[in-house]
Amino acid sequence: MNLSEEIRRLAREKEAVILAHYYTEGAVQDVADFVGDSLGLAQQAAKTDARIIVMCGVHFMAETCKILCPGKKVLIPDPAASCSLAESCPAEEFAAFVRAHPDHKVVSYVNTSAAVKAVTDVVVTSTNARQIVDSFPKDQPLIFGPDRNLGSYLNDLTGRQMLLWDGACHVHERFSVTKILELKAAYPNAKVLAHPECKAPVLQMADVVGSTAKLLKHAVHSEETEFIVVTESGILHEMKKQAPGKTFIPVPPEVSGEVGCACNECAYMRLNTLDKLHRCLLEETPEVDVPAEVRRKALRPIKRMLDISARLGL
Ligand code: 13P
Ligand code: SF4
Repeated sequence: MNLSEEIRRLAREKEAVILAHYYTEGAVQDVADFVGDSLGLAQQAAKTDARIIVMCGVHFMAETCKILCPGKKVLIPDPAASCSLAESCPAEEFAAFVRAHPDHKVVSYVNTSAAVKAVTDVVVTSTNARQIVDSFPKDQPLIFGPDRNLGSYLNDLTGRQMLLWDGACHVHERFSVTKILELKAAYPNAKVLAHPECKAPVLQMADVVGSTAKLLKHAVHSEETEFIVVTESGILHEMKKQAPGKTFIPVPPEVSGEVGCACNECAYMRLNTLDKLHRCLLEETPEVDVPAEVRRKALRPIKRMLDISARLGL
């Protein structure tokens, strides 16, 4: 039996569901029960009847599973799988920022720690952020954290002036207009697909801006056949799988520099390997836990996001 088959056997034996994000390596995506974006992964966690959830993603995604399913064992193949964006928003500092603006409601991107979610009114992902921001009265002042790029993109879309936390993702910050222009010259018919964590000048060049799931859906279902993909390159695995006849061009980041640099890969997501997934299922560790009080406070804004998304059919 090869490693993937052994992982599937263990998952059955242990009543475990394997959830994987589109940025993990192809072999991990292929062995998972469900591959999705942040919203899809949270939705799957909320409805699973498995005994164990294995989150092949990053730490905040596993925390969200634990908050939604406190009675289940939540495992992560490598506990070092953090997120630079979540790290750019330390909970104590964010809580002080929130306290300094008592008239503001707090909208937090899902890429945050459970402790940040605990001082949040509603969580969003890039799939539902616009609609959720729009659901607040126009005169309601809002704080948005932690991604300054997604935040200013949302301010442009909604005509608001949300107060933005100054955080960013180390992968998406590195994509540059220069590289995209070079690729556009080489592939003049290609459409540009970009994740909203990219900087504003990059987003202005995009034909489609959206979550990983939205970019994938567009790539598969549109008539277009060539795409310059401005996000973490792991998404190309599912794009090629679902649209084998189309051409997908990953964007090399501007500050690659060193030979062998894989700066358009999220080093944290790539910590999820088949070997670690196998060991994690076998030993039922490392487990992710969230202190009860934080869990209780963080559940409300996550549930609010899931309820609004369900109402919107997202
Ligand atoms: P998605 O919700 O679009 O999958 O984004 C998650 C993420 O971490 C992007 O960097
Ligand atoms: Fe976090 Fe960026 Fe990795 Fe997404 S790509 S998980 S935002 S570090």
